[in-house]
Amino acid sequence: MPGKSVVILISGSGSNLQAIIDASKTDASINIVGVLSNRADAYGLQRATDAQIPTAVIDHTLYSDRLSFDQAMMAQIDAWNPDLVVLAGFMRILTSEFVSHYEGRLINIHPSLLPKFKGTQTHARALEAGESEHGCTVHYVTEELDAGAPIIQAATPIVAADTVESLIDKVHKLEHQIYPLAVSWICSERLKSRDDGIALDDELLGPSGFRFIG
Ligand code: GAR
Repeated sequence: MPGKSVVILISGSGSNLQAIIDASKTDASINIVGVLSNRADAYGLQRATDAQIPTAVIDHTLYSDRLSFDQAMMAQIDAWNPDLVVLAGFMRILTSEFVSHYEGRLINIHPSLLPKFKGTQTHARALEAGESEHGCTVHYVTEELDAGAPIIQAATPIVAADTVESLIDKVHKLEHQIYPLAVSWICSERLKSRDDGIALDDELLGPSGFRFIG
């Protein structure tokens, strides 16, 4: 089976991008054809360049409204003709025009056990709420923020000594395991979106997606 073309959107460090780049080196189903950042100083651009992946910067501050920014991104992304668009720490809210254009081939990673803690500051909020565990979720993107169907989740216990920084670190390590896995499942056509839900190897996943045990 030929590889699927994947475009990855970033805003910052790109450690999840790196995890997917690393996976693509041994998984021929993943063909990263472009990396797009809304920030010229995003370190992930350097990671892409080091891996000889084409990059583009579309600076949101140069656009007067969200739609014109999203339209500029869509023109660049469509020029790469992707099968899958991966949000990897991309920190802009997307318009419904953008989301509907890519719906079904647009995924995100979010640092919480969705549906808990949508939005920002998830690690601090999980600590404040006295949760016994925290984690991350890869999900399809729909118009409602952080509410699309989950594909895979991974959890880590919260212990008394945990701080925001330690939780960020623990969750990041899980993100780097589950995001490449989800991308690989989609690119190898093991994961399918069906009318009755999401199926992995023809087995329907539960409402929280696949539960990853590291
Ligand atoms: C990741 O922790 C990701 O879950 C989060 O941004 C970080 C990016 O790190 N995404 C969101 O909060 C999206 N709402 P990275 O640039 O090192 O991959």
